[in-house]
Amino acid sequence: MWSVSLCIAATVVVSITHWLYRWWNPKCNGNLPPGSMGWPLLGETIQFFAPNSTWDTPPFVKERMKRYGSIFRTSLVGRPVIVSTDSDLNNMIFQQEGQLFQSCLCIAATVVVSITHWLYRWWNPKCNGNLPPGSMGWPLLGETIQFFAPNSTWDTPPFVKERMKRYGSIFRTSLVGRPVIVSTDSDLNNMIFQQEGQLFQSWYPDSFTEVFGRQNVGSLHGYMYKYLKNMVLYLFGPESLKKMLNEVETVATRNLDKWAGQESVELKDVTANMIFDLTAKKLISYDPEKSSENLRENFVAFIQGLISFPLDIPGTAYHKCLQGRKKAMTMLTNMLDERRANPRKVKSDFFDYVLEELDRGDTILTEAIALDLMFVLLFASFETTSLAITVAVRLLTENPQALQKLTEEHENILRNRENKESGLTWKEYKSMSYTFQLINETVRLANIVPGVFRKALKDIKIKDYTIPAGWAVMVCPPAVHLNPNNYKDPLEFNPSRWERMEQKGASKYFMAFGGGMRFCVGTDFTKVQMAVFLHCLVTKYRWQTVRGGEIIIGSCCVEKFGNNTKFLNSNYAEDDFSQEHVKLDAIQAPRC
Ligand code: HEM
Ligand SMILES: *[C@@H]1O[C@H](CO)[C@@H](O)[C@H](O)[C@H]1NC(C)=O
Ligand SMILES: *[C@@H]1O[C@H](CO)[C@@H](O)[C@H](O)[C@H]1NC(C)=O
Repeated sequence: MWSVSLCIAATVVVSITHWLYRWWNPKCNGNLPPGSMGWPLLGETIQFFAPNSTWDTPPFVKERMKRYGSIFRTSLVGRPVIVSTDSDLNNMIFQQEGQLFQSCLCIAATVVVSITHWLYRWWNPKCNGNLPPGSMGWPLLGETIQFFAPNSTWDTPPFVKERMKRYGSIFRTSLVGRPVIVSTDSDLNNMIFQQEGQLFQSWYPDSFTEVFGRQNVGSLHGYMYKYLKNMVLYLFGPESLKKMLNEVETVATRNLDKWAGQESVELKDVTANMIFDLTAKKLISYDPEKSSENLRENFVAFIQGLISFPLDIPGTAYHKCLQGRKKAMTMLTNMLDERRANPRKVKSDFFDYVLEELDRGDTILTEAIALDLMFVLLFASFETTSLAITVAVRLLTENPQALQKLTEEHENILRNRENKESGLTWKEYKSMSYTFQLINETVRLANIVPGVFRKALKDIKIKDYTIPAGWAVMVCPPAVHLNPNNYKDPLEFNPSRWERMEQKGASKYFMAFGGGMRFCVGTDFTKVQMAVFLHCLVTKYRWQTVRGGEIIIGSCCVEKFGNNTKFLNSNYAEDDFSQEHVKLDAIQAPRC
């Protein structure tokens, strides 16, 4: 044993000695120019870079010229270097480029200096004032990995919670290569929502823009944005919704009926399908039964790709997501072209509307913008609403009292209906006050959009801090919705709390649909979908969770939402509901 260690030690000593010897006495088939190689590794780099304020030849060179002559050797940034002040050698160097010499700038030195400078700046970002506290994490990576770590709690993401404790309600971090200020402070949140366009501007990470299109609503500002917003409101505003109400009810009834005939259904998945089909029909008259290609397929596993590291190589989630976009956009483009070739007499869907706009010479709309918008709407509508419905059903399952109260409200509507044949009316819809409380409470707890992004347009002073211009800002709704100062027992599902909230002006503490100018344009659409669905569900069905999936809500997305729900036909309501239990197979939720 001893001899082995000794042997190793000896070898190390010999190697180092040999290396040092070679450092000071470099190999040369002849007579090396005189000079000193300085310290091991460092060489004479420090002396060389020592600043000096003379116009004269640098002292480093002058001294050595005196000592060694016009040609001498040294070592700079880890490299042996011959310094030439000799006109014959200089001439030879310039003339024999490519034969005897090759240009070799002081690259190494520049690189070392730049990296050091860059690292320093990474950890100490510039700011004309007091930067909010926080850590910038690793170079480039920042704290991205910690941020995306999934966690199976309803509570504020641990990433945010820990940092709030350490740094306060406003802190800095770095996500996907960007400095970000995270705001959990209601004053700052309010300022962010109200000062849209002045101090802040809607901004999404590059990976989002690639997927949703550079010209999607979220990336547009000013006049174009207002134009698009009006267009969407035309589609999903109260007037259209009034007309849509019966269709929503029919679709919900038909789907519930179908699911009741199956052993169990994966609720998130089937509701997503239901809403996607409805939206696609409204927007582009898409009928999955008649189409040869499946449009919805391209949106599967989409969220996964959106929040993954934006690396576009085959195999990555991001790549799949981009492929999905490409295919969906091709389909949409083809459909629009087809419609253009075969215009319809009666304008009824979004395609008709877009074509009419494009035909008008003076419009600011372009085909590309319209297609990007369609893509965003298709995605935004089904993914968010289906999750909200699933969470609502889950919460109702776990809270029988709330379910009972909800059921009573909807049975009352049926009981008081004069024409028993008619469907839901707008008036009935507007009367569902407990349902609306329940919807607010559900989206408060679900935090479907866990972060709303903005960019600071100027240096912004808030409290004692300055947010530098150009930085990203992330509003974190969960931190507001689940803060005990804003909501008593925040993790408790209590729809009735909204009775009192209304008078208190809850909006400051409620941002599930965003706020200010960029308030979600789909809010009313979602509420109609949810309310009508719940109406059909509680008046006609009983369900039980067969295999409750684990709910993992990361700071990014819903990781897995298996909520396999079995529908049993109601056995208490009107006689025409059959009491049959029918069985089918469960479908597993896609993993995120
Ligand atoms: C539970 C359901 C939903 C939730 C929680 C939700 C949440 C949000 C939030 C928080 C924003 C603000 C983003 C920001 O300020 O940057 C937003 C914007 C938006 N939402 Fe929704 N949304 C839902 C449903 C929908 C639906 C059904 C549609 C489509 C019809 C939709 C379309 C949009 C669009 C187009 C924007 C962008 C508006 C803009 O940039 O001004 N959303 N949504
Ligand atoms: C979520 O975070 C909490 C608190 O930080 C931790 O105790 C728990 O183990 C985490 N769960 C998962 C699934 O990572
Ligand atoms: C739900 O929240 C919104 C936003 O704060 C509020 O305007 C609305 O009145 C709430 N609905 C109910 C039924 O409390």
